[in-house]
Amino acid sequence: MEGSGVNIDFESLSQSKKAVLESLNFEKPDIGIILGSGLGGVADEIEKPVKILYKDIPNFPVSTVKGHEGMLIGGELKGKKVCAMKGRFHYYEGYNIGKVSYGAQLLCSLGIDTLIVSNAAGGVNPEFERGDIMIITDHINFFPEHPLRGKNDERLGPRFVDMYNVYDRGLVKFTEDIALEDGIKVRKGVYFGLQGPTFETAAEYRMIRILGADAVGMSTVPEVIVARWTGTKVLGLSIITDLGLPDTLEPVNQEVVLKAAGEAAPKLSRLVVKVVENL
Ligand code: HPA
Repeated sequence: MEGSGVNIDFESLSQSKKAVLESLNFEKPDIGIILGSGLGGVADEIEKPVKILYKDIPNFPVSTVKGHEGMLIGGELKGKKVCAMKGRFHYYEGYNIGKVSYGAQLLCSLGIDTLIVSNAAGGVNPEFERGDIMIITDHINFFPEHPLRGKNDERLGPRFVDMYNVYDRGLVKFTEDIALEDGIKVRKGVYFGLQGPTFETAAEYRMIRILGADAVGMSTVPEVIVARWTGTKVLGLSIITDLGLPDTLEPVNQEVVLKAAGEAAPKLSRLVVKVVENL
């Protein structure tokens, strides 16, 4: 893969796909879910789960972090066939961008109609509060590498990918309506994706706001790009774990982020389960 100028290649993907489909109890999932911070709980609600460790999937990237053994979980959620990725790969961990987006690419190649992605993000919209859930309406890509850079394989997707409906407008509205019905407060906004692993300086948070974003984080964008490449619909959700307001900035660290993500997790999980149920 590396060196060929191709980030994602058809043969590797076909091998991974074959192995996964052989293990699942159904032909193809309807919905893919990338369980970012705050969505881990959704995995526990999957019925008749089939767990496939990443290390047992040919060509799948393997986490180098001890205790972070990732897995795909296939099964049923509210009567829908789902395949969820528990554990994702971040660019800041050192993976190239092809590996960062490989799981999303694999889920899409299994034939899902919809990909649901979640993340923890810093809010730069002054109206936001810690613990808010934001439905992503759009993104700004500030990753230093592009997952589709290199020779394009038309069997996977087109050379030039339209980002018009990147976060599906119908799904945004649908999710908003479900949240309203269920009394879950949601925000909507633009996600700014960058590599990390530093959190932003006050000046950077200010810049991100001026550039038109509402939240900033270190994941999601590469995965969403490959999903759109394959034509899969995307729903993106962020938990606002800290506020990047330059004039009143407070210290942030991983504990702060994980604590806020953990607190908001039950409502995000509830929302996702309801969305899946009604899709
Ligand atoms: N910046 C970048 N990534 C993040 C943040 C942040 O403030 N919070 C959670 N992930």
